[in-house]
Amino acid sequence: MNKDHLTLTDTAKLFINDKEFDLPTTVGSEDEVGIDISQLRNKTGAITFDSGYGNTGSCQSSITFIDGEKGILRYRGYPIEELAEKSNFIDVSFLLIFGHLPNKAELERFHFQLTHHSLIHEDMKKFFEGFPPTAHPMGILSAMVSSLSAFYPEAGYDADVELNIVRLLAKLKTIAAFSYKKSIGQPYVYPRNDLSYSADMLNMMFAVPSEPYEVPKVVEEALDLLLILHADHEQNCSTSTVRMVGSSEANLFASISSGICALWGPLHGGANQQVIQMLEKIKNDGGDYKKYINLAKDRESKFKLMGFGHRVYKNFDPRAKILKGSADRVLSEIGVKDPLLDIAKNLEEIALKDEFFIERKLYPNVDFYSGIIYRAMGIPTNMFTVMFALGRLPGWIAQWKEMRETPGARIYRPRQIYTGETKRSFVPLEKR
Ligand code: SDX
Repeated sequence: MNKDHLTLTDTAKLFINDKEFDLPTTVGSEDEVGIDISQLRNKTGAITFDSGYGNTGSCQSSITFIDGEKGILRYRGYPIEELAEKSNFIDVSFLLIFGHLPNKAELERFHFQLTHHSLIHEDMKKFFEGFPPTAHPMGILSAMVSSLSAFYPEAGYDADVELNIVRLLAKLKTIAAFSYKKSIGQPYVYPRNDLSYSADMLNMMFAVPSEPYEVPKVVEEALDLLLILHADHEQNCSTSTVRMVGSSEANLFASISSGICALWGPLHGGANQQVIQMLEKIKNDGGDYKKYINLAKDRESKFKLMGFGHRVYKNFDPRAKILKGSADRVLSEIGVKDPLLDIAKNLEEIALKDEFFIERKLYPNVDFYSGIIYRAMGIPTNMFTVMFALGRLPGWIAQWKEMRETPGARIYRPRQIYTGETKRSFVPLEKR
């Protein structure tokens, strides 16, 4: 919003028929202006209508700032580019949840807590046995996270919220890795306290009892970068779901489990899996990427260029820019040559020059290149969204905690415009 339009003292004027209403405005620390409509219905009898909430702010937040026009993403004021280059996932998780970069003592204590809460109750292993081998790991993940409330029933906000935050951050990677091992019929590999968060995740996924396994440093660093880039993204679909569920004072595990379900959708976190499936389809179709660009432009085809477009970024997604830059380096350091990367680059090059995409401001988003790096790391496609959830967990937790700590926080309950039948009398069966 151009701050020349409105200033802090301004009120917005609303005219309905011949009546004029003053609405207060609120201005954020980055000069974003919101028109406060919390008293609109009381004053005017009308509500606003904003399908998909594209123009509606659900909260004030100090966690993440995005400027979609300028391709800016900052966690607690720190640019994503600096965090990606200089920080690590545990450092960023602490920053998002507690609001400041941890000092040495805080970081050591946080890391100690995360390593000493990474086991799940042995009884939870029985839940894995109940799933068919073909079960999607996202379904397992949301079910297992929700079931944590059975083992830690006091996980509402008033309980020891920090202990339950640590439990969830520590255990999600164990649950994710166990769901992978279950899907390939291999024995579980338990978490190790001597490894970093990312190395421990990879070790639990790829180590096997029959031979020693050394986590390649380049793969560990690539995963840590991917987790940082996915860690938060203000009021996206899954985060808004976590806030919505948490606003009823549901416990932390139930709230996060709902966020995992929302993220699963192919238009949201499920897109990284869809991107690879799309690129493979193009490769198997002779690599004719121009055919799929034309399909995406044909509304009748219902085909979307997965990994492209974003509700907020109308210039470029800074995360996609970072990942495109690191994809070449990571793949060459791992020693992988993936034809899908070339197809992805060709798609991007063509799309960015095509009027259809330019007019609709469609650019690659975080999901466009992430799958190619996960693939090079040996992570199977159906685990990509699980990795997204692992990265997004600290953001979900930070947002849930901020919502629960907001003075006067109310249960989320939007209104609607009813368009159904008006009043009519009941028709008995014999007369229908
Ligand atoms: C994530 O919100 C977040 O912050 C999410 C996220 C996060 O970190 O949490 O960034 C992560 O979810 C990224 C997005 C991943 N999803 C995909 O890559 C799926 C493909 N993208 C689209 O489905 C779409 O772009 C969305 C869902 C991302 C955004 O949808 P919008 O904002 O509702 O936009 P829209 O569907 O109204 O599209 C506007 C126009 C339409 O054409 P017209 O009706 O104007 O003719 O653009 C077209 C759409 O048909 N369009 C696309 C397209 N995306 C939008 N056409 C072809 N291919 C696409 N990918």
